[in-house]
Amino acid sequence: MSVRTATASTAAAALLGAAALLPPAQPRATDARTPDRQASPVVVAHRGASGYAPENTLAAVDAAKALGVDWVENDVQRTRDGVLVVLHDTDLKRTTNVEEVFPGRAPWAVKDFTAAEIARLDAGSWFGARFAGARVPTLTQFVNRLERNRQKLLLEIKSPATYPGIEQDILRVLGKEGWLDRSHVRDRLAIQSFGADSIKKVHALRPDVTTGFLGTPAVADLPAYAAFTDQINPSYATIGADYVAAVQRLKGPHGKRLRVNTWTVDDAADAAKARAYGVDGIITNFPDVIRDTTG
Ligand code: G3P
Ligand code: CA
Repeated sequence: MSVRTATASTAAAALLGAAALLPPAQPRATDARTPDRQASPVVVAHRGASGYAPENTLAAVDAAKALGVDWVENDVQRTRDGVLVVLHDTDLKRTTNVEEVFPGRAPWAVKDFTAAEIARLDAGSWFGARFAGARVPTLTQFVNRLERNRQKLLLEIKSPATYPGIEQDILRVLGKEGWLDRSHVRDRLAIQSFGADSIKKVHALRPDVTTGFLGTPAVADLPAYAAFTDQINPSYATIGADYVAAVQRLKGPHGKRLRVNTWTVDDAADAAKARAYGVDGIITNFPDVIRDTTG
């Protein structure tokens, strides 16, 4: 952990500890649909506020809330018995105690485990003892927590080729939990993926839903992307002001200019550069650090 990160962690840990005693923080510039290049970039908590709590857990959602951050990014995959769960890696090793609980099940792929088996795993201890017992949430649990917190979701379809039909499954769960009604679709939900075909499918199934492509398509290819995606969400290392402007010159499937949310920016200096590039959003593990730099 770098000095800056350690300092940020210490400061935010103190903040999170005090959060219960304080009035809710006021979010800033959190309308991800407002096309105003002068506004501060929207801050998105990457896998939740994953610098401060185990990624993709309900604790990470709550940590973002405690910091006054509305937008939360996550990663969605599917279990062997068809349940949608929130986890980044396609195997369970790094972020759970799966090797201890199921020693004979290498390579511990998410797709090879049932939801009941995954529910037994500890997804918090790897990050810190105080998170022991945190679980891998289902998508249902995840959106219900966001709803309780009045937060917003940037949902990533992770490794879509591994999970044929996951787009329909995701939309089914979101619909059942009330996340495809007008108010959610208008400004509380966006669905992104590295898989262009997956995003095309989402757009075809639910043309009203905001979509995002993760990557940095060549400028010449951007008009083709603009047919099905509202956002181009590139790695910070791959962009500059010219690229951001090239994206933003185009209109997406909803007739509004394309937006750019860049990732994963955890450093104040990089955040200042990203803002100078004109990005619309910054996806970060340390949302307080980025907000304090760009807000
Ligand atoms: O939302 C952007 C970012 O999450 C994409 O990369 O690997 O962290 O899912 P990854
Ligand atoms: Ca992600």
